[in-house]
Amino acid sequence: MNDVLPEAIARWHRVERAFREISTRYGYTEVRTPIVEPTQLFVRSIGETTDIVEKEMYTFVDKGDDMLTLRPEGTASAVRAYVEHAVNGREPISKWSYVGPMFRRERPARGRYRQFWQAGVECFGDAGPFVDAEMIDMVVTMLASLGVQDLEVLVNSLGSGETRAKYKDALTAYLSPHRDRLSEDSQRRLGTNPLRILDSKSEGDKEICAGAPSLLEFLDDADRTHFEELQKSLDALGTRYRVEPKLVRGLDYYSRTLFEVQGRGGELGAQNTICGGGRYDGLVKELGGPDVPSIGFAAGIERILLVMGGEDRAPTIDVAVAVADAALRVDASVLLRDLRAAGLVADGDLRGQSLKSQLRRADKLGAKVVLVLGPAETERGVVQMKDLAAHSSNEVPRAEVVARVRDRVRESA
Ligand code: HAM
Repeated sequence: MNDVLPEAIARWHRVERAFREISTRYGYTEVRTPIVEPTQLFVRSIGETTDIVEKEMYTFVDKGDDMLTLRPEGTASAVRAYVEHAVNGREPISKWSYVGPMFRRERPARGRYRQFWQAGVECFGDAGPFVDAEMIDMVVTMLASLGVQDLEVLVNSLGSGETRAKYKDALTAYLSPHRDRLSEDSQRRLGTNPLRILDSKSEGDKEICAGAPSLLEFLDDADRTHFEELQKSLDALGTRYRVEPKLVRGLDYYSRTLFEVQGRGGELGAQNTICGGGRYDGLVKELGGPDVPSIGFAAGIERILLVMGGEDRAPTIDVAVAVADAALRVDASVLLRDLRAAGLVADGDLRGQSLKSQLRRADKLGAKVVLVLGPAETERGVVQMKDLAAHSSNEVPRAEVVARVRDRVRESA
């Protein structure tokens, strides 16, 4: 779990701003749900035999004997809120976005943390496939706006529940003769969640899976049309993608459209999935709501930070106030308040340091202007205004100083 110190925050803000701007343009509005939920919510939605539920959740019993979990992802909470507030009764389509920390007790590595941030969206009420394409296009647009280069979009279709049940049987039949050669995790999954074996990182498992039947062969007509229309739509939007029939992802709620955006930049290493998403047409019903088809994605903010381009300049202030005599600090604090009230970013070191040290600090903070209060000037009702960029200095009446600084700062903006 990482600290983000103020000197690093500009990059975070840039990602969050890009996400908010673009998701707003695509019609999404922010939802905020609690960071803890009843454990059962995640077990029921993400799936009992997933890595997240089996190994990675931060779960605890609270003082009232309730079993709670720090959210490992955002979809389950969003669906719970959607059902709890009967949102479907108010509008046919709901487009929600969120940014926030998620928690998974994974083995930490570059790009993989135990508290990490996701920026995600969920769209309820549209069975697609055009909204699916629009969503993929939106992520790619956002990442491009942040200067993330060298992306690959992978898409797949998991089909309906029935398709997956048939495929599960076929996959189990294919894998069973190879059982002894599978990794320990995969041997266990063979009886519980064989689809997850396709996602295994073990080289031996990958080799065996290479010959496995493809899920796409099992799609029924409606699933296949949906998937074809998605691809047509992506083609029309000019969004490049690759169909990856072995893409399964680690959450059980998915159906039909599934996608990932992977970065190929070296910074990411093995954790190269920047964004993952897909359809979860059965989940709202599963959690006690009506039959509402839905789709969403979440992007890992730390992973975006590892690959995005551009420089972020350290934040600077507009104006600093300094005093030539410690007795003028009260006047300085009033002047600072007036500058801030006028919308300026103003600061001053009122600890009683030497003028030289105050000026040095003003320079370090990147102040464009420094206002120096001296006893003689204060007596005459004026302030010394130093323009650090222009290396000039002049006296300004106290009553006019705020407006003068504002004009100067506007000029240089
Ligand atoms: P997910 O694939 O588990 O999907 O996570 C989405 C993204 O979160 C990943 O692609 C990755 O960038 C980031 N992420 C996941 N785990 C970590 C970690 N330990 N450290 C750093 N980043 C991480 C979901 O969470 C789904 N709720 C997405 C979704 C929304 N599907 C439908 N709607």
